[in-house]
Amino acid sequence: MPACQDPSQELDGIQWPLPPAAAETAITTAPRRLRLGVMASGEGSNFEALTLACRADQLPADVLLLVVNNPGCRALERARRLAVPCRLIDHRRQPSREALDDALIEAFGEAAVDLVVMAGWMRIVSPRLVAAYPHRLVNIHPSLLPSFRGLDAVGQALEAGVTLTGCSAHLVNEQVDAGRILVQAAVPVRADDDHASLAARIQRQEHRILPLAVRLAAQRLGLLSSPADQGPGTQG
Ligand code: GRF
Repeated sequence: MPACQDPSQELDGIQWPLPPAAAETAITTAPRRLRLGVMASGEGSNFEALTLACRADQLPADVLLLVVNNPGCRALERARRLAVPCRLIDHRRQPSREALDDALIEAFGEAAVDLVVMAGWMRIVSPRLVAAYPHRLVNIHPSLLPSFRGLDAVGQALEAGVTLTGCSAHLVNEQVDAGRILVQAAVPVRADDDHASLAARIQRQEHRILPLAVRLAAQRLGLLSSPADQGPGTQG
């Protein structure tokens, strides 16, 4: 069997905009396991899904460090259970947004991560963090961007009365929820949906697309080879 040329065939209908030519942002062509850092503020279900996807070899990557900003959050408990190194950087103890981001940059620098994933990070990041990880900062958002940016995207979708919403994994730029979209999944809104039921259905798709988005972001950087470059059975 030849390697699949059209990624959408492998993704069961998930939208996967093709990355621009790797040369645009290529850093290295030596594929190895990716080193990931993750930022989370609360539940941490996306952090766990990403960690498990790495461990199941769906993605040739390892989560080297989780940073949380809230003491006692569930993400912290998950990191302990999964034995992923975790650091608490409490934003309340930082004098400014820039100082918080400097602490993040230092922590991820020490862990020597290639990419950083904002998996439910409930703080707006400063341009400093974006500049420290150009094309290497990925966020997951519970809407089909560019619709419903910002806080409570699920509530915004219910309020607007849309019948279709979803989630987007995208690169982070200096505007909130506005960077290049990597992967999206559509989720229908049912007549009897409330906030909790719709959010749960969207989250199942988030868990699915986030590893794909990390793969794409890495491919754009030349940190992983593209599906078209790989022989049959070589995709992790
Ligand atoms: C997700 O729904 C994500 O889209 C948003 O925050 C939520 C985090 O959920 N940015 P969890 O902490 O990963 O469970």
